[in-house]
Amino acid sequence: MTILDGKKISNDIKEEITGQVTQMKERGEKVPHLAAIIVGNDGASMTYVNSKVRACKRIGFESTLVRMPSTSSELELLKKIKELNEDDNIDGFIVQLPLPPQIDTQKVLLAVNPDKDVDGFHPTNFGKMSLDMSTFIPATPFGILELLERYDIPTKGKHTVVIGRSHIVGRPMSILMGRSGFPGNSTVTLTHEFTKNITQITSQADIVIIAVGIPNFLKVEMIKDDAVVIDVGITRVPDENEERGYYLAGDVDFENVSKRASFITPVPGGVGPMTIAMLLKNTLLARERHRGEKY
Ligand code: GUN
Repeated sequence: MTILDGKKISNDIKEEITGQVTQMKERGEKVPHLAAIIVGNDGASMTYVNSKVRACKRIGFESTLVRMPSTSSELELLKKIKELNEDDNIDGFIVQLPLPPQIDTQKVLLAVNPDKDVDGFHPTNFGKMSLDMSTFIPATPFGILELLERYDIPTKGKHTVVIGRSHIVGRPMSILMGRSGFPGNSTVTLTHEFTKNITQITSQADIVIIAVGIPNFLKVEMIKDDAVVIDVGITRVPDENEERGYYLAGDVDFENVSKRASFITPVPGGVGPMTIAMLLKNTLLARERHRGEKY
């Protein structure tokens, strides 16, 4: 069994990008600039956004964090998005999800200029992704593809079972694994809360990708020998014995599943760090497009 070390691979990617940023600086060029909007102060969302901003600083990107109160109206957020769309200094930006209930997420995602949509959540970019066109691929699925590629895990003709159909992970992942090319060319089954006999399906999977946010959902009895297991779950489980008051749990019963799997991602240190690295990669792409160097 091999542990897919997202921390190491993400550091490799960040180093590669740092090299490119150094060259830009030597040439006197403007470095990529990522902005992030966060509405409210949910602890987990703040942690994620701060990590994204910190990662930008570390690799030499410019970054801007826009904090808005949880009581912000939809109109106020849409105005801020318009400002970032029109700000020539900013190459790409994200709106951290989830948003407070008074704000319509779909309206917000539609308002982002697709050329600055480094999350790849705009329908134009999601459509392009589905049609094999060059675009921004959502960072978490992009990170999973990168892990499969860098560990040279075969996907062609394999049965990939995706558990969970979220717009951020499960849905795009199910599309990407069935696209032509590597990683891809898989036969894909997308399962969700209404799927019957899920064990019957997962036990036929060569690759299982799970993103449901339910700790220990995937048990060892649910997979076949030598399956590849990708765990996207990251749930804060309250625990008084932990200094910060919680521990992080994946969707996989790691202790037992890892004994049967051929490759497996740990939580933390698997998919999580890859998400940030791929967001940086998308920001680099946004800068190249902004400068007319790539389409
Ligand atoms: N919330 C959870 N994951 C993500 C992500 O990848 N991007 C944004 N914007 N919000 C998220």
